[in-house]
Amino acid sequence: MDELRRLIREIPDFPKPGILFYDITTLLKDSRGLKLAVNRMSEALANQPVDVVIGVEARGFIFAPPLAYQLGAGFVPVRKPKKLPGEVERISYDLEYGSDTLEIHRDAIQPGQRVVIADDLLATGGTAAATAALVEKLGGEVVGLTFLVELTFLGGREKLARYPVTSLLTYD
Ligand code: PRP
Repeated sequence: MDELRRLIREIPDFPKPGILFYDITTLLKDSRGLKLAVNRMSEALANQPVDVVIGVEARGFIFAPPLAYQLGAGFVPVRKPKKLPGEVERISYDLEYGSDTLEIHRDAIQPGQRVVIADDLLATGGTAAATAALVEKLGGEVVGLTFLVELTFLGGREKLARYPVTSLLTYD
């Protein structure tokens, strides 16, 4: 079995009955696992210039900064509402029940900058598609999205069909 897959702990019935939760904390605390995950993300993106790597609060903040460091790019946070102190651009997107909102600083990305979006998980793709839309509102170019885990049965990749998407591990 792939070393990364082996390091991810599966917890049934979390956060609610019937859901199988892929717990990445067991991978993160493993020095080899953490290095392997970041290296593999960066290898998939390394053959092109990247100006900025975006991480989405909260678990995207784990992978985006080391990835940005490796790619020689800057890091920009996309946050839940009312956390960023400067002027923000905001987007709301639909969930199965209700909606969610994400924010980015208006001056975080300059027009024409090449942007990668990194997160721990691609599920329905709603978070990533909204983040890509925020980048484009600011005039940035989304040159790639990278995820540690992709839940293929939720079809998130179809929402991101316009972009190059890489995931290190897929679960069907
Ligand atoms: C998780 C995960 C992704 C998102 C993926 O974040 O870290 O950001 O869900 O789901 P989607 O593809 O269906 O949009 P969550 O909203 O649980 O927040 P957290 O990182 O603060 O735990």
